[in-house]
Amino acid sequence: MSIDIAVVPVAGLGTRLLPATKSQPKEMLPVGRKPVAQHVVEELAHSGIRRLLFVTGKGKHSIENHFDTDGDLITYLRESGREQELGELAFERQDMEYFYTRQRRQLGLGHAVLCAAPLVGRQPFVVALGDSIIGLNAESDIVARMIEQFEATKADVVVAFEEVPRDEVFRYGIAEPRGPIGDVFELASLVEKPSVDEAPSNLAVAARYVFSPAIFDKLRETKPGKGGEIQLTDAIQLVLNSGGMGLGMRLRPDERRFDIGNFGSYFRAFVEFALSDPHYGDGLKEYVQALLDRP
Ligand code: UTP
Repeated sequence: MSIDIAVVPVAGLGTRLLPATKSQPKEMLPVGRKPVAQHVVEELAHSGIRRLLFVTGKGKHSIENHFDTDGDLITYLRESGREQELGELAFERQDMEYFYTRQRRQLGLGHAVLCAAPLVGRQPFVVALGDSIIGLNAESDIVARMIEQFEATKADVVVAFEEVPRDEVFRYGIAEPRGPIGDVFELASLVEKPSVDEAPSNLAVAARYVFSPAIFDKLRETKPGKGGEIQLTDAIQLVLNSGGMGLGMRLRPDERRFDIGNFGSYFRAFVEFALSDPHYGDGLKEYVQALLDRP
């Protein structure tokens, strides 16, 4: 059976989005009409994921509530004659089973993934960061394409990458490719936040991964890095160093990554999703244009 399980870490504190994230998870901030986490789940469902494990933490209950069926709300909408609005809750019924575990201490993304080990067991799995949307309106099938490559090549790791402007490489994990760079390329190593001069490429890690369970073994060996955090990138490097096969897969131009981790990229994502809204997009475009044209 093809890989149908994804781990979605959502336990981070989101300090770069304070005060918006003081008492609500960044993964529940709206982008257009839906919270970030719903965009992520719909994208994964589109790629064939059927079992989804959220790694949550303190203050993240609203994520669990969002994906539950809310019988009271459904009854209320029915009884008040607003049946047409029930369509907005269709995502509650999508073919997906949810599981939750908690990361009890904020020890970094690698540690959050390791918290999933007892539930995932010894099977390959997807990791999708809960604060990043790929493409507009969950239409991307990047995860399905990554799973296909993973299974066809028997790789140990497949990582999604997007091209970023050369002068921004210092913000990201950057690929060092081996051999020709097509849509899929061999990954020699990953360099975390390199300087512009030292960056081996401008291909930045784009929030989606497929792993063999070997990643759990390497995460257990990974020493805490900056800020005492266990970095996922370091564990991937250990897999590659020990002879594991790593592949990179490039996002298509229509599959840009929307990173809801800082206000600059959050604002851009919100504007782009809102402008593409079938009901309000055109009116918003005129409004924004008038604002921009104002002397
Ligand atoms: P970030 O690297 O953006 O970290 O997380 P953060 O802690 O959420 O945010 P800042 O830096 O304080 O603003 C990337 C993804 O990994 C999850 C986050 O919830 C987010 O979806 N994460 C991060 C965890 O689950 N646990 C962690 O310890 C760190």
